[in-house]
Amino acid sequence: MQLYSTFLLVAILCTIHTCVYSHLIGTGKADITGPVAEIHLFGYAEMDQIANGILQRCYARAYIVVDDDSMPDGSNNDQLTGNRIVFVNVDLQSMSLTVKARVIQRLQLMFGPDMYSMQNVMISSTHTHSNTGGYLEHFLYEIPVKGWLEETVQAVVSGIVNSIVKAHYHLEKGHVTFNTHELLDTNINRSPSAYSANPPEERAQYTHNVDKDMTLLGFHTDDRDLGLINWFAVHGVSVNKTNRLVNGDNKGYASYSVEKNKKFTNTTVSTSSDIFVAAFAQSNEGDVSPHTLGFFCTGTDQPCDGTKSSKCPWRSTCQGRGPGWKVGHLDSNRVIGENQAAKAIALYLESKGKPQHTLSGPIDYKQVYWNVPETKIVQPDGSIHALCKPAMGLSFIAGTTDAEPGIGVYQETTHMPWYWRLIRIFIKTPTPTQALCHAPKPIIFDTGEMNVPHAWQPHILDLQLLRLGDVYIAGVPAEFTTMSGRRLRKAIKRTLVKHGGDPSSIRVILSGPANGYSSYVATYEEYQVQRFEGAATIYGPHTLEGYIQVFQALATSMVTHAPITLPNTIIQPPPNTASSQAPLTTHFDPLKMTMAGRRLYFDLTPRRGTDHPIFSFGFGDVIQDVSEQEYHPSTHDVVVISVTFVAGNPRHNPKADGSFLTVEQKQNDGGWKTIRNDHDYDTRFRWNLKSKLFGQSEAIVEWEISNQTERK
Ligand SMILES: *[C@@H]1O[C@H](CO)[C@@H](O)[C@H](O)[C@H]1NC(C)=O
Ligand SMILES: *[C@@H]1O[C@H](CO)[C@@H](O)[C@H](O)[C@H]1NC(C)=O
Ligand SMILES: *[C@@H]1O[C@H](CO)[C@@H](O)[C@H](O)[C@H]1NC(C)=O
Repeated sequence: MQLYSTFLLVAILCTIHTCVYSHLIGTGKADITGPVAEIHLFGYAEMDQIANGILQRCYARAYIVVDDDSMPDGSNNDQLTGNRIVFVNVDLQSMSLTVKARVIQRLQLMFGPDMYSMQNVMISSTHTHSNTGGYLEHFLYEIPVKGWLEETVQAVVSGIVNSIVKAHYHLEKGHVTFNTHELLDTNINRSPSAYSANPPEERAQYTHNVDKDMTLLGFHTDDRDLGLINWFAVHGVSVNKTNRLVNGDNKGYASYSVEKNKKFTNTTVSTSSDIFVAAFAQSNEGDVSPHTLGFFCTGTDQPCDGTKSSKCPWRSTCQGRGPGWKVGHLDSNRVIGENQAAKAIALYLESKGKPQHTLSGPIDYKQVYWNVPETKIVQPDGSIHALCKPAMGLSFIAGTTDAEPGIGVYQETTHMPWYWRLIRIFIKTPTPTQALCHAPKPIIFDTGEMNVPHAWQPHILDLQLLRLGDVYIAGVPAEFTTMSGRRLRKAIKRTLVKHGGDPSSIRVILSGPANGYSSYVATYEEYQVQRFEGAATIYGPHTLEGYIQVFQALATSMVTHAPITLPNTIIQPPPNTASSQAPLTTHFDPLKMTMAGRRLYFDLTPRRGTDHPIFSFGFGDVIQDVSEQEYHPSTHDVVVISVTFVAGNPRHNPKADGSFLTVEQKQNDGGWKTIRNDHDYDTRFRWNLKSKLFGQSEAIVEWEISNQTERK
């Protein structure tokens, strides 16, 4: 009877209201595009991949969810006391602890010490390889971009803060939905020989050797669409290393595609914070490629896998082919992006307003700083697996089959040739303990034992678990391989179920690289094969076991509310209250560690000089106008219209949330309407330095038109 009346009550409420649980939700998006010229793009570590313009802008997309029952009538957002979590997705190769700490520092200046902290804000990256670098504080990652680049860092920090501030001031009652479905033809495994080393009974639990599921959170109010976040594991390398225009790769394209979709665009609303915010977040993409057609030696149709036995002919290297490779890499990027965009829209619309998809339950978070090399894992038989100080294996410099550098080193190298031993003497020969700890990895960069000019790779990581009802988001500062991600998610779920969670409703999502960067995580079995991902698993063969141990502790602590107890490995974050007067030295301070602790602060990128117009011209003068030719759709497939202007260096002003170009269309009333800017995929802004001595440069603005381009 009791049960029956409860059911009746719910049924009545459902008819009055839509019968879906509500939270307070805010979404916001802001530009993080930094210098688009003279600075290295970061991801491929290609020394001549230096930015010279924009293909698409890069953004931070922020989502705040607050426990709703905390909002008394008439209170304002700043007085809310309920738990809140913040998830930010950024169009970057990865994230750093320093950037996160600076974001939090600025938020705390604005909103006080209790609202936003290292514990409840997660910053995750899309892993694009086409945005500028310089925001990672460890030396190994500074080498390919020539340092710590404040120009990039400040654009990124400001953009992330702006996105969160917008979300903060737009909190309103709304619903969060969950949905998941398979997306095919969009990713493949680039290291299948390592994947196959995992136990057969484990592999038998899965149909594919990469995760095909896209997982989505949708955000809407009773009458408006607010945004979505989805996770799908696929590397951001559709745009290849010959590109020099800043862009967000396939996930950046997918966001662009959804956000300009007419279903979600309300043209009567012009403030950017009211737009639909669509984040395409990254998951366990370590061994996952967008090159769905496979890997071939350039100039041939010979398949390759990056090993010595499949070595490419002289002057040819192993490279991936995306679905549009015959047209070009930007077409592959569009297809991989569009596949994700279409799936995300379908998942969003299917779940919107449906009680069975709507999340309810507590909002919660847990975060720790993990001292990785101190970690020991006690096995059931009493033996101990120890994690190591960081180091990179020789196969790391072999690169991947997505983009092989072709320097005569091959993947799956477990034995160090004598000449590399010789070369290594000039870098650092690892201590015997370190070499043994990492075996069978032949160490090329003994990063954990090198501190000149400062630490080469991190020893301390920020691990974080967010909870939104039955959905748990694990933020990892690394690129997990497919099986590593599966094992971690399973382990977290197992722990939650052990503490009374319902196995049929608990969902665990892996998000990253988030909150920092420490290269890859492969399983123990994959590590033995020493493909690129195994060689770049920096804390040795038991790295994944270490992560599992800490995340199980985080999950346990979240549900039991007991403190985390893992001797020596967990450095408790500073208590997040204004009244805390503990001296800074007794707790771990990421800002201090990463900035003040640096022995040498360097930036070897070219200085910005004063701009001068090209002789006999003024700034903004047209050097070469569009050709006076009419476009006939029947005779032309694609035509590129271009204009060259006398310009200054775009590094002087990245035009955040603005544009370096617009395309305007004449209206019937004689006025002009802007129909394109530099974020559009069919426009390009290119910059050329004409004379370094005189500081003269030009900007080339391009618009690609085809029979698909809209007419009046
Ligand atoms: C667009 O936004 C305005 C202002 O919020 C609202 O009045 C209008 O109904 C919206 N239109 C659509 C189609 O959502
Ligand atoms: C990169 O893409 C361009 C355009 O599709 C192509 O011409 C070039 O060969 C590609 N380079 C590599 C290294 O894949
Ligand atoms: C547009 O051009 C493509 C070839 O580039 C052609 O396949 C297509 O039929 C054309 N569409 C129209 C509407 O003319």
